[in-house]
Formats: sequence, C-alpha cells, structure tokens
Amino acid sequence: MDLKKRLIFSNAAIIVIPLVITFVASFIFMFVFARIHDVDISYNNVKKLTQIQYEFFKADGSVLKNSPEIILEKDYQEYISTRLDSIEADIVVLKGQERVFETRSIGPIELERCLQKTGDNLFNNIVEIQGETYMVKVIPVNFKNGESGKIVLLAPAMNDWMTTEKLLIFSIMIFVTSFTITNVVIIFTFSKKVINPLRKLQAAAGKISQGNLDFEIIEDGDAQIRELCRSFEKMRLKLVEASYTQKKYDDSRKVLFSSISHDLKTPITSIKGYVEGILDGVANTPQKVDKYLKTVHSKAVHMDRMIDDLLLYSRLDMNKVSFNIEKTDVLKYFEDCIYEIDIELEKSNIKIALYDQLKGKRYIMIDRDQIRRVIINIIDNSRKYMDKEQGKIDIFLREATSHVVIELKDNGAGISESDLPYIFDRFYRADSARDTMNGSGLGLAIAKQIIEGHGGKIWAVSRKGEGTSVMISLKKYED
Ligand SMILES: Nc1ncnc2c1ncn2[C@@H]1O[C@H](COP(=O)(O)OP(=O)(O)OP(=O)(O)O)[C@@H](O)[C@H]1O
Ligand SMILES: [Mg+2]
Repeated sequence: MDLKKRLIFSNAAIIVIPLVITFVASFIFMFVFARIHDVDISYNNVKKLTQIQYEFFKADGSVLKNSPEIILEKDYQEYISTRLDSIEADIVVLKGQERVFETRSIGPIELERCLQKTGDNLFNNIVEIQGETYMVKVIPVNFKNGESGKIVLLAPAMNDWMTTEKLLIFSIMIFVTSFTITNVVIIFTFSKKVINPLRKLQAAAGKISQGNLDFEIIEDGDAQIRELCRSFEKMRLKLVEASYTQKKYDDSRKVLFSSISHDLKTPITSIKGYVEGILDGVANTPQKVDKYLKTVHSKAVHMDRMIDDLLLYSRLDMNKVSFNIEKTDVLKYFEDCIYEIDIELEKSNIKIALYDQLKGKRYIMIDRDQIRRVIINIIDNSRKYMDKEQGKIDIFLREATSHVVIELKDNGAGISESDLPYIFDRFYRADSARDTMNGSGLGLAIAKQIIEGHGGKIWAVSRKGEGTSVMISLKKYED
C-alpha cells in the first residue's frame, strides 16, 4: 500500500470503525435486552401513547374531552376497554377524587404518583406500578355538572434497567474499547509495514557506516519504503563495487611498485657490477674496460627507455596526454611507416608487406606520432619474438561499416593461450620473453592506452609456434 493512502485510511479508520461498532453494538444491545426482558423500546411506547391520545381526543371528535360523561356509559366503557387492550394500554378516569372507570386497578399511592406527572415530556413521566414501568399521560377534563376530573392514560414503558444513562454508559464503554482495539491494530500494522522496515534500514545504514557491506537489504513494507530499500540495496552494491575496484587498484599499485623496483633493480645491479669490475681492476685491459663500459652504457640506455615508457604510461593513465588529431589517409600513412622501418627489418631477415583491401573511405582521425609509436611497438615485438629463419610481417588494411581494421600479422613464435589474455596488461611479459629479450612489458599496455584514447580497439589473435596477429580498429572519418 501507498504510505499516503495508509495514513489517510488509518486516520479515517480510527474514527469511523469505533463509531460504527458503537452504533451497531448499542442497537443490538437494545434489541436483545428488550427481547429478553420482554419490554418494548421507548419509541414504540411513545407511539402507543400518541395513538391513545389520538383515539380519544382526535378521532372520536374529542368526545371524552368535551363530554367526559360518556365514559360512564357501559357501551363506551366496553369499546374503550377493547381498544386499549389491543394496544396493551390502560386508563383510569377520575371524577373529582372518585374513580369512575379504570381498566386496571391501581393503588392509591401509585395513582397519586401518576397524577403528579403532569409534564408533556413522556420520557420523564415514568411511574412504577406493581413492579412494572409505565409511561403516564394525565389529561384534565371538566364534567357537565361543573365537576373537574382527570383522565390518566398508562402505557407500559421500559424496565428500569434500560435507562438512557445506562445505554449511554454502555455506548461509551463500547466506543472506548473499540477505539483502543482499532488503535492497537492500526499501530501494529503501521509498525509492520512502516516502522519495522525503517528500523531494518537504520540497522543496514549502521552496518554500512561501519564498513560492513556483506549483507543483503530485503525489500519490505509499503511502496515508498520498498523503493527506499531498493535504493539502499543499489547503494550497497555500488559501494561493494567501489571497494572491489579500490582493492583492485591498490593491488595493482602494489604490483606496479614491485614491478618497477624489480625491472629497475636488474640493470642497476649489473651496472654496479661492471663499474665495480672496472674500479677493482678486474677489467685489466683497455679492451675489457671498453667492453664493460659499453655494457654499462647499453644498460643505462635500457633503463632510460624504460623510465620514458613508464612516464608515458602513467601520463596516458592519468589522461594527461593530449592527442594532436589529424585527418589521415590510412594507406599513405602505413606506406610511410613501412618505408621508415623496412631497412631495419631487412637486417633481421624479415619481409614486410602492405595489403590494401579498403574500398571506399580511407581516412581516419589520428594523432600520427602516437599511432606510429603503437605500430613501431607491434612491429618491434614481431621482430623481437621472431623464431623463423625467414621472418614475415603482413599488414592488411580492411574496412568495416564504420571502422577501418588494421591487422599486423607475423609468422613468429606466437603467444600461448594462457599468456594471450594478459599481454595488454602493464609489465606483463610471457616467461619466454622475460628470459630472452630486453623489454619492460609496457609496449602493448601503452599501445592499448593510445588506441582507446582514440576511441578505438586493439586485440590479438595468436597460435603458439605459428605467429601472432595484432588487430586495431579505428573509426572512419565521416564528412
Ligand atoms: N608478436 C609477438 N610474438 C610473440 N609474443 C609476443 C608478441 N607480441 C607480444 N608478445 C608477448 O607479449 C608480451 C608483452 O608485450 P609488450 O610489447 O607489452 O612488452 P615487451 O615487448 O616484452 O616489452 P617492451 O615492449 O616494453 O619493450 C611480450 O613480453 C611477449 O611475451
Ligand atoms: Mg614490446
């Protein structure tokens, strides 16, 4: 249920339900007890007395009132007796102090009590006669001989127990009880649907604030509370994800530090060793000194390159490298690249060839220097990890709907299935490469950063022993 609807419903129910219960219970109470005690309820009694009055003073042309002597006639007395009997009423007629006619014998004290009830409000004209309650109506009359008299009409009324106060007390008790029960029920459902779920959320928030995210927030309660639970659960999942990412980031930072330290330590250690060799006189001939110095120099160059790569990688990682994007003809660009490295590759006995399979558009938007760095690294890898007598690098330029796909395929050592998913990770080097070749394992990680920085994709397909294809997909230039 909607929270707003629940509030409206609860507020209305708190008043309406006790009122309805009180009304129904009072009615049943009156009805049942009237039956049990065989008494008529007041409305009927009032009706009866009104009826008698009408019978005697209106319908009969006010015969009794105008000529009360008629009551002394036997026929009229019989007529009245039957009429009154049919409505269970009685009459006493007084001429002066003398009773001239009565359908029920009443004691003098009781009659006196009746005669005192001269008011018009019948509810106040209640008299007990021989253990029964009656409503009394006293009508003054004048006889023809000038004598005054009184006609006393009696109709059975409620018993004593059924007074207005008692009914009122009963109704109040019923109202208070039903009001309390309704309140308890409403508070109970309100707790179940609103307060309890909110308490659970409060506990969940407490756990989250203490860094405990290992639990689930279950939806419960009214619509808005369920929504709140859902948002809380979403927030918890986001926090779990964030803490996982943070942990991964921390772990990878640790790996980064240890990799950097390790990769820098190796050349530094050998530089130290060679320099000590010279200082200690181990290199005791000019040729040896020259050899040692050349080794120190090459290690220093390697370190220098590694630090450059590292700086570039971290600048790319922090998005601090701004690309100088230019509209570029893919075919011409690759022809130029190949021209630059062709001679170098020939020295390593590697043949490079370019296959243009482009059909329509051949322009891409790239930072030419950065993409050149990527191409050089991939071709440099093909050269470094070439194990065939005659090396081969084929570059295919192909076209997809919105992209140009460049494949750089070699016939080198290939990459094992277990290494393949990681070669674009920073510092990752297959064991074989680690053993034999110089490098820091940053080349492909940098390539990935640069290509993704251009909105493109880079991936590799390889078979161990057969060769490797590195694929680059870059968005075509749209006019
Ligand atoms: N064409 C290839 N043939 C075989 N193995 C390859 C090839 N290209 C990459 N690899 C494997 O992937 C790893 C990662 O390549 P990457 O270029 O990132 O690092 P690197 O060449 O070892 O070092 P760096 O490029 O920093 O000098 C390499 O160490 C090698 O094991
Ligand atoms: Mg490399």
